[in-house]
Amino acid sequence: MTTNTLTSETIAKDILPLNGTDHIEFYVGNAKQAAHFYQTAFGFKLVAYAGPETGVRDRASYVVQQEKIRLVLTTAIYPDSEIAQHVHQHGDGVKVLALWVDDAEESFRSTVARGAKPAMEPKTITDEFGEVKMASIHTYGETIHTFVERKNYNGVFMPGYVARTSELQVEPVGLKYVDHCVGNVELGRMNDWVKFYEDVMGFKLLLTFDDEDISTEYSALMSKVVSNGNGYIKFPINEPAEGKKKSQIDEYLEFYRGPGVQHIAVATNDILHTVAELRRRGVEFLKVPEVYYEDLIERIGHIDEDMADLRKLNILVDRDDEGYLLQIFTKPVEDRPTVFYEIIQRKGAKSFGKGNFKALFEAIEREQALRGNL
Ligand code: FE2
Repeated sequence: MTTNTLTSETIAKDILPLNGTDHIEFYVGNAKQAAHFYQTAFGFKLVAYAGPETGVRDRASYVVQQEKIRLVLTTAIYPDSEIAQHVHQHGDGVKVLALWVDDAEESFRSTVARGAKPAMEPKTITDEFGEVKMASIHTYGETIHTFVERKNYNGVFMPGYVARTSELQVEPVGLKYVDHCVGNVELGRMNDWVKFYEDVMGFKLLLTFDDEDISTEYSALMSKVVSNGNGYIKFPINEPAEGKKKSQIDEYLEFYRGPGVQHIAVATNDILHTVAELRRRGVEFLKVPEVYYEDLIERIGHIDEDMADLRKLNILVDRDDEGYLLQIFTKPVEDRPTVFYEIIQRKGAKSFGKGNFKALFEAIEREQALRGNL
């Protein structure tokens, strides 16, 4: 009985049903080369393309995919475009966190009614494979959420794109799906954005980290995690906190020129394999010192993995009430110290690696110091 009540309550309260992450679109300086990087370094496969050759005059977009993770890499063809301005301002960065929905028009209408700022009115695009309905709203900074309804479409991505494969033979590295996407916002704005996700998007506050949880000798940050009704979408929101020196969030905000997506966490079922492959292909990771591993077993208890393998690959471990997780963070994947990736394997744990924050932030600060930004 209790379960039934809970279930119906959950459904009743899910004012914005989301099926998952549809895709993440980056605006970049050179999409052709970015697509090559994601193929050779991260094991994505090229699946679709749109550009001048396919009748799209102002941009070129490459769609790369690995299991459920779909990235769209878009570049401007002309200087006087919104894409070129975005890249000029932010460097390569995430423009769209697209959400897969059953009803794009209703998702747009209801979120706008609850206060969302419209970015693109609902539109339907068609080709020989069917139709896709889309609409967009603004979130923090210049980032937008696009609602994508694709139940009447069976093409490779969406109308306007053609299927495209590459001569490049790439093996996937085992990345499965987007676990969470983190946004950095300005000092004092975290709670406003949490409220936006709660009130407008029907998300729930899952976790709160304050500067006591997340501080080193030099810098601090605060973070709140919001999650949608079915838990498929998780958005941690960070803001800087007062510290002795410039925090990693301040550094991001300075170089991204405002709020934006800080990191995308992608899940694997075999982090040892995934990280060994990524390293072999040249992906750079943050380094935690050897001392991290010295009392790790005492801190987290038994784990299935071999400690020597974790140490060799510099993978971090954390435990919560429900299990444990393994994680590692890349260095920024562009020249500005902005967007990076997290590789995560969950073995029961639903949290975010709080026990690793101190070791991680000290590693980030060493990188900040090398850049002259600490
Ligand atoms: Fe994360």
